[in-house]
Amino acid sequence: MAYIAIDKVSKTYLTVSGESVCALNEVSLDVEKGEFLAIVGPSGCGKSTLLRIVAGLLRPSSGQVILDGREVKGPISGVGFVFQRPVLFNWHKVIGNVLAPVDFAGCRKRDYVDKAKELLALVGLSSFEDKYPSELSGGMQQRVAIARALILGPSILIMDEPFGALDALTRDQLNLELLRIWREGRQTVLFVTHDIQEAVLLGDRVAVFTERPGRVKETISVDLPRPRGVEIKSDNRFGKTVVRIYNLIAYKNIKEYI
Ligand SMILES: Nc1ncnc2c1ncn2[C@@H]1O[C@H](COP(=O)(O)OP(=O)(O)OP(=O)(O)O)[C@@H](O)[C@H]1O
Ligand SMILES: [Mg+2]
Repeated sequence: MAYIAIDKVSKTYLTVSGESVCALNEVSLDVEKGEFLAIVGPSGCGKSTLLRIVAGLLRPSSGQVILDGREVKGPISGVGFVFQRPVLFNWHKVIGNVLAPVDFAGCRKRDYVDKAKELLALVGLSSFEDKYPSELSGGMQQRVAIARALILGPSILIMDEPFGALDALTRDQLNLELLRIWREGRQTVLFVTHDIQEAVLLGDRVAVFTERPGRVKETISVDLPRPRGVEIKSDNRFGKTVVRIYNLIAYKNIKEYI
């Protein structure tokens, strides 16, 4: 059985006005241990909903998620979550932000200070540990959020459009950093993005979702060697995979727009 088995997961929300919104419709997806799975799909198709269900932060209306042989029934430990916005505590220094999950987990901060420093070095922020978030750029804040997600040594990294708010150059740089971190840690990664190029650069596979209610339309294997650098974008196979995914998502064939 797969490390993460998402089995016919559906989710219907009841809105405050009493309407029901079907966000996910029988989504089934297997993720192997150590795999980097990218997820793309139209806005509102339930990607964030699915990530929250996998992390046990939200219960599905039907279906189940089996993690390492056990059904996920509530928040699971061993998961690092990175959101689109870094959501840092402005009153804590950078190092305090990286250590925040240690507090929440009821562990002793002092046992994790060295690890926090190592992680800040890993994301290129060694000399910024005593700064406050307001003194950092958007890209640097997102690096802090990544270090924070890694502090408890998660085996699963769930990332919900983590670089969506960043400019293209910073995004490329953080993508490469993320690949380096993943190569060392071999976490199982679920990475949602709106950027198809980003999905292909990073992923072992790309799960393409339909419009709401979201279902998996197709899962594309990314047949590109690793380690990957930006030069992979000029590889013929990269372009072909990007266009294939575009055509799965776009209403019309991309050629009609050229
Ligand atoms: N708490 C909620 N109550 C009611 N409806 C919700 C709630 N959360 C999400 N929805 C609805 O469920 C659908 C899926 O939302 P979700 O945030 O999972 O989509 P998404 O694919 O992550 O979208 P985006 O790409 O814009 O982030 C949307 O139609 C949204 O309006
Ligand atoms: Mg979302």
